[in-house]
Amino acid sequence: MASTMYYKTYLQLDTLLNAQHPESYKTGKPAHDEMLFIIIHQTYELWFKQIIHELDSVRQIFSKQFINDNAPDLQVAVHRLKRVSTILKVLVHQIDILETMTPLDFLDFRDLLRPASGFQSYQFKIIEAMLGLKFEQRFEQHYYVSHLQPQELELVRQAEQQPSLLDLVQHWLERMPFLKNPEWWLEYQPLAPENTNRDFWTDYRCLYQQSLSAEEQHYLQIFDEIFIKGNPTPGRLTPAASRAALFIMLYRDYPMLQLPFQLINTLLDLDELMAMWRYRHLNMVQRMIGSRIGTGGTSGKHYLKGALERHYVYVAFAELTTFLIERSRLPQLPDRLKSALGYSFS
Ligand code: HEM
Repeated sequence: MASTMYYKTYLQLDTLLNAQHPESYKTGKPAHDEMLFIIIHQTYELWFKQIIHELDSVRQIFSKQFINDNAPDLQVAVHRLKRVSTILKVLVHQIDILETMTPLDFLDFRDLLRPASGFQSYQFKIIEAMLGLKFEQRFEQHYYVSHLQPQELELVRQAEQQPSLLDLVQHWLERMPFLKNPEWWLEYQPLAPENTNRDFWTDYRCLYQQSLSAEEQHYLQIFDEIFIKGNPTPGRLTPAASRAALFIMLYRDYPMLQLPFQLINTLLDLDELMAMWRYRHLNMVQRMIGSRIGTGGTSGKHYLKGALERHYVYVAFAELTTFLIERSRLPQLPDRLKSALGYSFS
């Protein structure tokens, strides 16, 4: 039986391909490059939509009470986050296409855009919020509040109120069983005799201190703040989550920790790629409009520079490398824990 499905209908091409209406055409002085300008923004927005779709599904996975490491859950989450990272790579490169437009070509229609700006992309702000950027961390918050229309501001606010990927991954790390189950640690052989509690972290702290040079000794205080005492700074993980994440980085060669390690690494990729996009966009903006204020009314490059520096989300994971020690000096894990971290065929 012949299907009634047709390419154009399935993809709603009538809607999609009739959604480009350059303002300059309406003035009787068509600016050739305005079509490129519109299409590139629209493709960005389509990819933003896909990213939100992926992040939403990953958030749902991490919202579960229990994530079975032997089930596809974690695999699916990592796979989708890697897809987001691949999309972001394309988005970074897409700036190359926009850079084929010269500043003079842009000036042919730039004034017609005011006060519209990419700054008003609510999907971009939703992505930032879903990843874990808090309102309090945003650079120059007044632009953010005043430049979005109320219904879009509301959508971003809703995204901010839901648990972000950062919040959810943190809770998942806090629940990581390998550091918690005392039975797996029964045979742990402490490195120092004074470690009478046979506590892994007491040993690790000592090894870390030995690895520091005289000028670096103050890092021990930071180690204590992050892994023991906790310090409620935005973007910083709780001590339990920090310990779990460091443990994953240290013992990532064990099968059960490989996917968790890939998860952390992929989050770092996302932060890096968002920053790369911001950097490429900033440079493109500088080449295109120099020091002039943006059509959206911000300070232009000053705002974009501030956002580039301040809008990292996964800094706490990036900082963990400060606390690594050489592989050969790592404490030996007890056999029971090693077997829990390996493949189980029984
Ligand atoms: C000629 C090309 C472009 C110029 C000159 C430009 C300029 C600017 C400027 C000056 C800002 C700061 C806000 C303002 O005052 O307007 C901004 C923000 C922004 N633009 Fe563009 N832009 C261009 C292309 C794009 C494209 C293709 C996108 C893709 C969606 C985009 C997305 C954004 C976003 C998301 C922000 C907010 C960034 C943040 O908050 O970190 N822009 N842009």
